[in-house]
Amino acid sequence: MFKFNELPDFDKHIANSNPNYNGLIELVHGVAKDYVQQGSTVYDIGCSSGSLLNSLRCYGAKLYGVDVVDIRKHKDFDFIMSSGTDALKSADTIDVIFSIFTAQFMGLGRSAYFDELTRHINDGAVCFFAEKVILDDNKLNSVVQKNLLAHKRKSFTDTEILDKEEALSGVMHPLTNNQLNTAFLDNVDATEVWQSYNFKCYFLQSNK
Ligand SMILES: C[S@@+](CC[C@H](N)C(=O)[O-])C[C@H]1O[C@@H](n2cnc3c(N)ncnc32)[C@H](O)[C@@H]1O
Repeated sequence: MFKFNELPDFDKHIANSNPNYNGLIELVHGVAKDYVQQGSTVYDIGCSSGSLLNSLRCYGAKLYGVDVVDIRKHKDFDFIMSSGTDALKSADTIDVIFSIFTAQFMGLGRSAYFDELTRHINDGAVCFFAEKVILDDNKLNSVVQKNLLAHKRKSFTDTEILDKEEALSGVMHPLTNNQLNTAFLDNVDATEVWQSYNFKCYFLQSNK
């Protein structure tokens, strides 16, 4: 079973695993600056090291990091050790939500999480939502996977790659693009703002 809290350097690991991850974080940070203001309430669901919230601390917002494990490198925000769904259920008004590569780790509970995100978005939150997806075109998906493997080989040995895949197989459940649309994105106003290989990020706001 894959354990995030056993990685020696989470930020380095994810940057080496997801091609152009640093470009995504740069974009999310750049866009978020225009939505995170003095007094805004910001939730990062699956906050891990807390690096994203740490980069936003200068704007005077109330920052909340939510995660099921505590692997924080930065501690200058309120940490809620809880599932994303429960944290969103008990939250008051939220202005900005980050869900960056977190929903893919939710199995059966994912639809309740999508319902909570949708509720907060319809109440006025904007959301940066990134996920690994299975591309709907089978051939393209395999070709992209092959290239992803080549990318990972630059930083990891074949044994490390295989061990991680085996460990992730029980906990990571990516959806196809069509499934993600039906389960969630069709219910909000979703604009794709970034894609690298089969990793995508959307900017979500209310469609009401
Ligand atoms: C791939 S990491 C992404 C971390 C971070 N958002 C980023 O992009 O650097 C996924 C994170 O989601 C957390 N996580 C998994 N299931 C969760 C859940 N149900 N609720 C909240 N966090 C969860 C994991 O512990 C992990 O820290």
